Amino acid sequence: MQTNILAMDENSLAQAKQLLLQGECVAFPTETVYGLGADARSDAAVENIYRVKGRPQDNPLIVHVHPGYDISSLVFDEQPYVRKLRDAFLPGPLTLVYRSRGKVSAKVSCGLDTLAVRVPSHPDAQRFLRYVDIPVAAPSANRSKHVSPVSARHVYDDLHGKIPLILDGGPCTGGIESTVCDVTGPYPVVLRAGLVSREMIASVAGRCEAYVPKEGEQVRSPGMKYKHYAPACATLYFAADAAEAARAALEENVRAGKRVRVLCEHTLAQKFPAEAVLDLGADAEEMAENLYRLLREAEEAADLLIAVEPAERGGVMTGVLNRLRKACAGE
Ligand code: TXA
Ligand code: MG
Repeated sequence: MQTNILAMDENSLAQAKQLLLQGECVAFPTETVYGLGADARSDAAVENIYRVKGRPQDNPLIVHVHPGYDISSLVFDEQPYVRKLRDAFLPGPLTLVYRSRGKVSAKVSCGLDTLAVRVPSHPDAQRFLRYVDIPVAAPSANRSKHVSPVSARHVYDDLHGKIPLILDGGPCTGGIESTVCDVTGPYPVVLRAGLVSREMIASVAGRCEAYVPKEGEQVRSPGMKYKHYAPACATLYFAADAAEAARAALEENVRAGKRVRVLCEHTLAQKFPAEAVLDLGADAEEMAENLYRLLREAEEAADLLIAVEPAERGGVMTGVLNRLRKACAGE
């Protein structure tokens, strides 16, 4: 199958709609990462997503809709704080997990009685979703377990030959996936940290907890149990206060003839040779925006990536650190 990368216009949107209605997958930009979209109403189309990505069949998908879409046709929203969350953060990088009305393919939620719904803020994502005007199931458009794509080229590198069309909306500025938040209970529970932080949600809803699986309990966001975001090169992971040890490891591996890169926050960058440094940036939002692009650069340029953990700052940093550890520390 030939994979076309097209800018968004009348012609590419019409193609995208036709492909989706035929059960094919189409990649599209969002403010977080690129999504691999398919018709959420069709079992066969949703199966196609799992096949194309090589994704485990027990990791449910997020349904994407445009801001004008009537979400109440898909889910029950019983909790009084949900409207406040929607008013404060949507459209945007916050996915809410509701009790499902069962109106989309059961394969979207892998048989769970809940449904994750997201309304992206990216203008091209909205244009695409408005044009097709159906619920679009979409995981990140990468090979399963690889680094999520933040450009059309990244999608192409992972999935060319497997999907017919990538809609190109330029680089994603959010950079890490949406916050996934369960809103079925008396207060919201963050299942996956992201650009809308637990603290931000708590300030609107009054209370918000981060989900911590209890010993022996079935994982509530099944995707969290898998290794993710991993670059193709070897990785070494150092704590925030271990920059000296990281530098020793760099020197040793360079002496051994390896091509090495060091990923670290801006304040540590001058501790390493300029040609080896991948500078994540100074604050959490910058680091989120740069993280996946730099992980992909590292795997192309290096045999070994040495990551030095940025300092914990709470807020958005929680999501950045979660991704970085899964990518480089083998958690
Ligand atoms: O920013 C994003 O969320 C991107 C873009 C494309 O929108 N999408 C994305 O999808 O990251 P994916 O499939 O890579 O991650 C979806 C996450 C997984 O951790 C999954 O377990 C969780 O959402 N999830 C989906 N449906 C769920 C449900 N019903 N209950 C609990 N967790 C759910
Ligand atoms: Mg993903």
